[in-house]
Amino acid sequence: MCGIVAYIGKQEAFPILTKGLQRLEYRGYDSAGIALRNGQGEFEMFKKKGKVADLLAHVNGKKLTANMGIGHTRWATHGPPNDVNAHPHFSGNNRLVMVHNGIIENYEALKVALEEAGHTFQSDTDTEVLVHLIEELQKRENLPLEEAVRIALSKVVGAYAIVIMDREDPDKLVGARKGSPLLVGIGDGEFFFASDGTPIVEHTRRVVYLDDEQIAVVTRDGNLQIKTIENEQLSPFVEQLDLQIESIEKDGYDYFMLKEIHEQPHTVADAMRGRINAKEGWIRLGGVEEYTNRLLQANRYIMVACGTSWHAAMLGEYLFEELARIPVEVEYASEFRYRNPILTEKDVVLGLSQSGETADTLAALQLAKERGALLYGIVNVVGSSIARLTNAGSYIHAGPEIGVASTKAFTGQVVLLTLMAMSIGYKKGTISKSYFHRLLSALEEIPAKMESLLSQCEEQVRYIAAEMKNATNALYLGRGYNFPIALEGALKLKEISYIHAEGYPAAEMKHGPIALIDKNMPVIVIATNKSAYEKIVSNIQEVKAREGRIIAVVTEGDKTISPLADYTIEIPETEEVLTPLLSVIPLQLLSYHIAVMRNCNVDQPRNLAKSVTVE
Ligand code: M6R
Repeated sequence: MCGIVAYIGKQEAFPILTKGLQRLEYRGYDSAGIALRNGQGEFEMFKKKGKVADLLAHVNGKKLTANMGIGHTRWATHGPPNDVNAHPHFSGNNRLVMVHNGIIENYEALKVALEEAGHTFQSDTDTEVLVHLIEELQKRENLPLEEAVRIALSKVVGAYAIVIMDREDPDKLVGARKGSPLLVGIGDGEFFFASDGTPIVEHTRRVVYLDDEQIAVVTRDGNLQIKTIENEQLSPFVEQLDLQIESIEKDGYDYFMLKEIHEQPHTVADAMRGRINAKEGWIRLGGVEEYTNRLLQANRYIMVACGTSWHAAMLGEYLFEELARIPVEVEYASEFRYRNPILTEKDVVLGLSQSGETADTLAALQLAKERGALLYGIVNVVGSSIARLTNAGSYIHAGPEIGVASTKAFTGQVVLLTLMAMSIGYKKGTISKSYFHRLLSALEEIPAKMESLLSQCEEQVRYIAAEMKNATNALYLGRGYNFPIALEGALKLKEISYIHAEGYPAAEMKHGPIALIDKNMPVIVIATNKSAYEKIVSNIQEVKAREGRIIAVVTEGDKTISPLADYTIEIPETEEVLTPLLSVIPLQLLSYHIAVMRNCNVDQPRNLAKSVTVE
């Protein structure tokens, strides 16, 4: 949930760390801090509540010369977000300094034992307890840093990615991970540690992704050693970082979220590239081909996810049941993992996650693996924990998603679910050849339709946003494939504009929420349905009769709904099962423009972080 960057080499560490932290800020922005080891052998530490910009203001242009240092951007778990709880944290004797991402679950017991041994603590964090423990072991047994780290980590319950520096050892950094991501970047006479590739991509593309319970020791003389917590030496597996710098810049847009919304015609095309061919009539997904028998013979599919990925999973349920005739259960990963679920070897568990690091989704998948289910991942971040845990999977290839509100990852997930359901359905014979071919052609047209929708609807959406921006509540209604889109539209609005919003199946409205409707309540109805069209028209009538303000998303050319609605947004015609790929776009734009008009920080909404690597 936090971001880590560290450097050792010949360059000035300060600009590398602070620029790296700005790139990692999407992971948390409650506080930011750095510690440098300068040429005089002293640590210099700066940390501040707030964003990296606040840290830079605090440094106030002071010349900091050092070629070794660690940095951190925090999403608070233990202790409020303030200067004291900001990372890095010193050990008691100020010899060690450390940054940490994750949660040490047994920190209270460790703290009590350390207090009995004479340690006192400045902050409320679990991190400070861990660095004191490492100091205690180092001091007591006169151990080299990496050995003290190894023994300390064997006493820890919980999740961590850490990087630690020792004032007495100017030539070494030690990093380790369990449950939180950490990679080592190998430069020319220099090394980096980072939570992901974004802080280091302009310096090196040679990386080693650490696995759980691995410790990496890098030294100024170019040595990289990896060992496990059990002290087993490993050979580093060096990979090429696949990341374009342009994909992590705003590229002229005011916010990453807007850029990412507009990237969707390309990201959706990338999700399909090389995987479908409408002319020749095929779909090829590596993971599906590899496990065809198990996927076809499964009793049921269970989809586990959180947040927006959970909404994509709900669409997965509709798609798989309709196209492949396979029963699907959609589960909040956080509930599933603690419910002692009934799982058998005949089950397939799909994990959906943009980041591939969401703690609850990862734990739910781990549980399913222990019980013998086949795991399939639909993930964006290449090499992420979920990608590595699952037996098979498909990347969505959306490129880095930096805005906290997920947009292009969602449409990418929906594309992959559609391809999977179609491919399995076709193999099983549950969809006809002609329908399969029609869907393939319709899929290939989606990027162009997204492009034209984006260019046509934004001005109108901005106008509606201005009308809606002072609302305190909003209701999103949809039926069938548009019900998950109603949920997603409501989530987008609340998370970035702080307007309370609820998504509901349109027909359920009359069982309660209808009581909320009056002339002040904007009701966004996603009404592109072909099936149950008359039903959704009746639902709109019910809202109108109570004076609700209706914003309707309809298929182009719709003549029935516009006279009923206050505002109508048209989306291009497509096959009904594919409409979510288009109907979600005006809702993403609506929440974006409302948030901008309310002066909210769209990319970094309060209290949130991009990837939730804690429970
Ligand atoms: O990385 P994941 O897809 O696993 O993340 C799941 C949720 O945390 C995420 O979708 C969250 O709800 C977003 N802020 C929604 O925009």
